Amino acid sequence: MKIAVLAGDGIGPEIMAEALKVLHKLDLRFEMESALVGGAAYAATGHPLPEGTLKLAQSADAVLFGAVGDWKYDTLERALRPEQAILGLRKHMGLFANFRPAICYPQLTHASSLKPELVAGLDILIIRELTGDISFGQPRGRRSAPDGHFPGAEEAFDTMRYSRPEIERIAHVAFQAARKRGGRLTSVDKANVLETFQFWRDVVTAVHAQYPDVKLDHLYVDNAAMQLVKAPKSFDVIVTGNMFGDILSDEAAMLTGSIGMLPSASLNASNQGLYEPSHGSAPDIAGKGVANPLATILSAAMMLRYSLNQPEAAARIEAAVQAVLESGLRTGDIHSEGCRQVGTREMGDAVAAELAAQG
Ligand code: IPM
Ligand code: MG
Repeated sequence: MKIAVLAGDGIGPEIMAEALKVLHKLDLRFEMESALVGGAAYAATGHPLPEGTLKLAQSADAVLFGAVGDWKYDTLERALRPEQAILGLRKHMGLFANFRPAICYPQLTHASSLKPELVAGLDILIIRELTGDISFGQPRGRRSAPDGHFPGAEEAFDTMRYSRPEIERIAHVAFQAARKRGGRLTSVDKANVLETFQFWRDVVTAVHAQYPDVKLDHLYVDNAAMQLVKAPKSFDVIVTGNMFGDILSDEAAMLTGSIGMLPSASLNASNQGLYEPSHGSAPDIAGKGVANPLATILSAAMMLRYSLNQPEAAARIEAAVQAVLESGLRTGDIHSEGCRQVGTREMGDAVAAELAAQG
């Protein structure tokens, strides 16, 4: 089992250290290799996704990814910004299916911005198409000045497109995921305004014929955003395009109390995957030892389940995280009265200790 470890920028290295600590507590043998990515790679090599890093990622069974981005790179031309590393990995590895579960742990019900009764027991899965849509449209960055801005320009544009095979493959992934869960799939689009998403709706509807046991409904994205805060538990699996999925998954994350809790998996057609926390590099708290490592630790669990075929080890990590929350340990982002606030390292240590205690 070969794992490419890409810690990245900001809080990336701190949270990654805790995830690796937890993985090393399992009775499994991994071949791990680290490489620079994002701003750290740009600073060292002049490119956010150096050839060597991409090769390493492509040769691994799975990539464990921290986070990329820092304000100090905001003035670079777009192609050299840290975010391009993650977009490049998604594109070159063909990671088209992004799984973003939003689970509200019973211990954290009160950390949600919604009333506890609306989120207690929440368990939804957002499946975001990850290599198409407006984020990968053409043309991009025309008339761009070297720093990525548009001095004197009168317009700028990006194009939104999806092909039938791109929609079909993500629809299959989503129907199959729904089948393994509650059997309900909501496809989110903007078919009332955008041609691309009328087409999306048509193709998803056609694929549905192969999954008569799954209940499919369609929602416009604005309504979906509203329903997510009005009645989040009415959803089971949501499938949507790249841009709507980006936005809705952040919204869903907050329902659970903190984006610091949420893992994600991005898979390609051969189940090779990239696993990363749903949150970003949080440069404001980098180096302070206060970031929540649980999203990265839970991403490592998803990696064991989806790419490394170790579902039992995954379940052990998830149980250890539950037990640590149950014991009242909280990082600042999920802290509430009566709990003990700890830092990044203490949280990682506690999960590792819990794994050891499981035997
Ligand atoms: C995400 C992020 C990325 C995206 C950025 C950092 C390129 O917001 O993974 O959700 O837009 O997909
Ligand atoms: Mg995002």
